[in-house]
Amino acid sequence: MPREEEMKKLEEGIKKCRHCELWKTRTKPVAGEGSLSAKLMLVGEAPGYYEDLKGRPFVGKAGKMLDELLDSAGLERNEVYIANVLKCRPPGNRNPAVVEINACAPYLDAQLEIIEPAVIATLGNFSLGYIFDKFGLRPEKEKISRIHGKVFKVSTVAGIKKIVPLYHPAVTTYNSGMKGVLIDDFKALANCF
Ligand code: URA
Repeated sequence: MPREEEMKKLEEGIKKCRHCELWKTRTKPVAGEGSLSAKLMLVGEAPGYYEDLKGRPFVGKAGKMLDELLDSAGLERNEVYIANVLKCRPPGNRNPAVVEINACAPYLDAQLEIIEPAVIATLGNFSLGYIFDKFGLRPEKEKISRIHGKVFKVSTVAGIKKIVPLYHPAVTTYNSGMKGVLIDDFKALANCF
């Protein structure tokens, strides 16, 4: 099946999903968006207030910062694919619960299979945890302050993949000093494919 069709089918499933309780409080699910032939997939945590209203990932304050970071690294938003671990907003932007991650992660797994990105960048702790576990990197998981911007190579049936842990762009809203760190990390990310 062509990628476009597979993704459409997946998105239809996400729209109707009731695998956890978050469907009760969401406005719109946020499947993800971007190029289906992207070499880079960015994986965030979960939709926030504006994402839930619009049904698109990273369109609020953190999204503006993400756009700036992509731009500073010479990357176009429409040449990458942007997804989240959770497709529905946790009420009040609370942290994702384990049951929610377990219920929702098969959608992210399917997106990774459809797109087959060579590089996966994790944005924030929940994404880091899920992707590191999925690709057998749990023993290498350390505090984000020690591993941000580093490139981890993993062998998969679909070839070698590079995993790059990054701080969540929202970190700059409560610590403006982090912007320079993120800019450097996004440059390193753009240089690894
Ligand atoms: N934060 C995330 O992790 N994902 C979004 O889509 C928006 C904000």
